[in-house]
Amino acid sequence: MTNFDALTYAGNRDNLLDVEGDDRYAFERADIADAEAVGRVMAKGFDVVVNFAAESHVDRSLYDPARFVRTNVLGAQNLLEAARSQGVPRFVQISTDEVYGSLGPEGKFTETTPLAPSSPYSATKAAGDLLALAFFKTFGFPVIVTRSSNNYGPYQFPEKLIPLCISNAMEGKNLPVYGDGMNVRDWLFVEDNCEAILAIAEKGRVGEVYNVGGGCEVPNIELIKAMLREMNKPESLITFVTDRPGHDRRYALDSSKLTRELGWSPRVGISEGLRRTVEWFSQNRGWLERVRSGAYRDFYEQHYGRKL
Ligand code: TYD
Repeated sequence: MTNFDALTYAGNRDNLLDVEGDDRYAFERADIADAEAVGRVMAKGFDVVVNFAAESHVDRSLYDPARFVRTNVLGAQNLLEAARSQGVPRFVQISTDEVYGSLGPEGKFTETTPLAPSSPYSATKAAGDLLALAFFKTFGFPVIVTRSSNNYGPYQFPEKLIPLCISNAMEGKNLPVYGDGMNVRDWLFVEDNCEAILAIAEKGRVGEVYNVGGGCEVPNIELIKAMLREMNKPESLITFVTDRPGHDRRYALDSSKLTRELGWSPRVGISEGLRRTVEWFSQNRGWLERVRSGAYRDFYEQHYGRKL
């Protein structure tokens, strides 16, 4: 298995220390937007390519959309092109429910819901998805797209809502809630998503899109209160701040296609998932401190005596 990663701000080799020594694992530090590097590595030959690489934070996409186009569109294109020319027999494009835009109080996104992305982030993910599906339609290249809801769990970079709130609460800092806190997300524990991706990579039908939803819809403010209860921290840490521009109101996914075809359904509900996530962050304060201070970049060097 080859892990191809540019190690931009959120990349952290510290997360994979337990597999670093395994001779079935190789690491390549390179950027998917670099077609030459992608071509060179793809020439090793693979049974399956899974494209997890993305700029994924909506708030960052408001300040630097070009970077999102580069990674999420051009990068996806480079991977698709290189994989196709090498005859890779399976390509999984990891996408997001955000490509569907925003829901009202009722209903769920299905795989046939028209795409209506709101942010530069989701617009670039939609472009990557459509390119992947076009490679199937035009060239018969065996692509599958997954669209998952909001992931959370151990190792998540603390710019996303859940790890941000856990790490702020641990330090007694305020938890910034955008707008009225009534935006709803459908929370998916990371291990459930991993199981879905594995099942799709092994048995999914090519040319198809699969929604992967957690089945746990919660308004942000309720989620944050549940987190504070789990951590025994006071609700007075909650601070309402100016809303995110273009903030999608509600996401909810219908994953019945994945359940019907591959027998997948999420196993970890939000209470258990939050408990496990809070527990992981409390037991891995060193990881969090290194990430927050930027020292995770040096940690690998200290650990291995060579640079990332
Ligand atoms: P986020 O983790 O950024 O994921 P996404 O925007 O992809 O859904 O945000 C999850 C929700 O939490 C979203 O409704 C925005 C909100 N939010 C806050 O209220 N405060 C914050 O500091 C952050 C990062 C997000």
